[in-house]
Amino acid sequence: MVKKFKFGKPYETMAVVEDIALSDISELKYLSVSEVPKGGYLFTAQLRKLNFFYGLGEATRGINKRGWIYTSYNEDNPNINDCRTSLYAAHNFYVVSGENSYGAFFDFPSKVVFDFGYSELTEYSITCSGDGYLYIIEGDSLNAIVKEFRSLIGQSYIPPKWAFGIGQSRWGYKSADDVRYVLRSFRKHELPVDMIYLDIDHMQDYKDFTVNDRSFPDFADFVQEMKAEHVRLIPIVDAGVKVEKGYKVYDEGKRLNYFCKDRSDDDYVIGVWPGDSVLPDFLNKRAANWFGEQYKFYLDSGIEGFWNDMNEPAIFYSRDRLCQALSTFKTYNGRSGTEGYERVKSKIFALGNTDEIYTEFYHSIGTQKVPHYKVHNLYGYKMTKAAADYFKRYNPDKRYLLFSRSSYIGMHRYGGIWTGDNASTWAHLLLNLQMLPSLNMCGFLYVGADIGGFGGNSTAELMLRWMSLAAFTPLYRNHSTQNSRHQEFYEFGAFNKFRLMLQWRYRLLPFVYSEFVKAALNSDMLFKPLTFLFPEDRFAMNIEDEVMMGDSILIAPVYTQNAIGRYVYLPEDMLEVRLSNVGIKTRQRKNGHNYVIVAPDHIVFFLRQGKVVPFAEPADCVENVDFNNLTFVKNITEETTYTVCMDDGETTDNLRKYMKEIVVKP
Ligand code: GLC
Repeated sequence: MVKKFKFGKPYETMAVVEDIALSDISELKYLSVSEVPKGGYLFTAQLRKLNFFYGLGEATRGINKRGWIYTSYNEDNPNINDCRTSLYAAHNFYVVSGENSYGAFFDFPSKVVFDFGYSELTEYSITCSGDGYLYIIEGDSLNAIVKEFRSLIGQSYIPPKWAFGIGQSRWGYKSADDVRYVLRSFRKHELPVDMIYLDIDHMQDYKDFTVNDRSFPDFADFVQEMKAEHVRLIPIVDAGVKVEKGYKVYDEGKRLNYFCKDRSDDDYVIGVWPGDSVLPDFLNKRAANWFGEQYKFYLDSGIEGFWNDMNEPAIFYSRDRLCQALSTFKTYNGRSGTEGYERVKSKIFALGNTDEIYTEFYHSIGTQKVPHYKVHNLYGYKMTKAAADYFKRYNPDKRYLLFSRSSYIGMHRYGGIWTGDNASTWAHLLLNLQMLPSLNMCGFLYVGADIGGFGGNSTAELMLRWMSLAAFTPLYRNHSTQNSRHQEFYEFGAFNKFRLMLQWRYRLLPFVYSEFVKAALNSDMLFKPLTFLFPEDRFAMNIEDEVMMGDSILIAPVYTQNAIGRYVYLPEDMLEVRLSNVGIKTRQRKNGHNYVIVAPDHIVFFLRQGKVVPFAEPADCVENVDFNNLTFVKNITEETTYTVCMDDGETTDNLRKYMKEIVVKP
């Protein structure tokens, strides 16, 4: 059961696809609401002992969100830690457990603050700045509530099958030869791979939809050369467009008036990687269409996948603020002292990526000029939708890979996400696991973190442990920043171990892909907190470092350094499945707390009774994984079936047509 309430005059975000009649505010249960004098709405409720909060998608801290404060206001800040309250995305859905469990989606595109027992031990609150809709969802269980919400917001994006292969990325592949070197190294050590990512280095002066033709000559030929090797190149597209007369994208956007405006209706000029840049007005339908069409540049060269970046939007500086700061520096030139220090410092901190910056520019929506801060959280969503809409026009019969850094619920129908600039730390490996169910609740199924960590220096051990989680995550991409230690899978020696770990992903592909498609088609989560499947289990409620995948396996990677294993809590008897250099080994495990020894190059998961997992033979790329030749690991005493998705991996048909049941005997 879903109820919809309206507050003020909301902007239609199109996050929800179902048409629901408005309810009167007198029908609002669970939350009390009052208006905030400065504008916006405050929702409050009593916090009870067993109120656990799940959801909020991309957010810090654990699976249960109780006890902290979370801000939905998309932020470009790579310093991800538990002190932070906001990250790159705004996913305003939660479900709360307890006597009166319910789900709530705050479809408010400006800032929303979820205070789940941070300010008060006995109360929780949600503060929405601006106007919006609130959806209250009821159901028999947490799982049923989430499923209801998921059908409300429409089917999640399904990428092509090859996008479930291994991707190698790094900020710093500067030429076609750099990319060839990466591929040669994979081949030399017989490591499977499906994608190599192109970061901003492939562009001419960081200009969107350009390729540096000295370092990447004959780009279309190069794309084909890679494709002949079963490798797809996946370029980045940034939100900011460089200000440069003579650059086609800038000239055209300027002529058509498609960039965000400042108070005086001039283009609002900011700084990102290319220097002075402008922001395409993705909330303006025509501008969005126009930006979408720019992807043709790559599509015509044979490119089939993209990652959209810097779309919070990231703003290093506004031109005006930078100019003011530079003149302050001049004033204090040669006058050392605290006064100058304070003035200069405050100017520097105010240059970009602040709340204030987002009040300085405007969108043209219909005949209205809408201040950005009112719709801030939609920017990355609408950029990604613009691309996805164009792909449909370009080739309606083909699925493209598309994922974004910034997002809002609704974008899950158009693309996936990666969780931004994490770091090579053990904490971020755990965070990767903890975010999976939360993201799935909010509709985002094609998700993953930068494996091995983006910032800082990775290690062989961290990388291997991360790979034991990544073996199950839909997006499997190793990405790192420039100047960090190289962390390509061949950089740590121990090639046999790395090869094997990568191979397991390909052997598990029929499972990962089929479970993914089932989750998308059935409005289900691919990863669930244990308590969603075992609601009566008091221990399961508190488990923060294990998740269920589908309804059949439990995943519990090791996420501490130098560990020989870890405790795993099993809510019921399960079959331990161990993937290692001696193949697949199984043993029965009793429910309760089990200490499980796991070498860094082993993958261990737990299979529920009555369930099976298909394995394919090893393959060097997705195309060569044979879905017709599967063997099963089983925990069954009687015959069962397993449903595999047997489509060609690219069709835009309803995938239900391609679901094939295979009979499995004990
Ligand atoms: C941003 C992205 C990162 C990328 C870098 C350079 O920090 O999050 O993935 O490598 O920009 O484009």
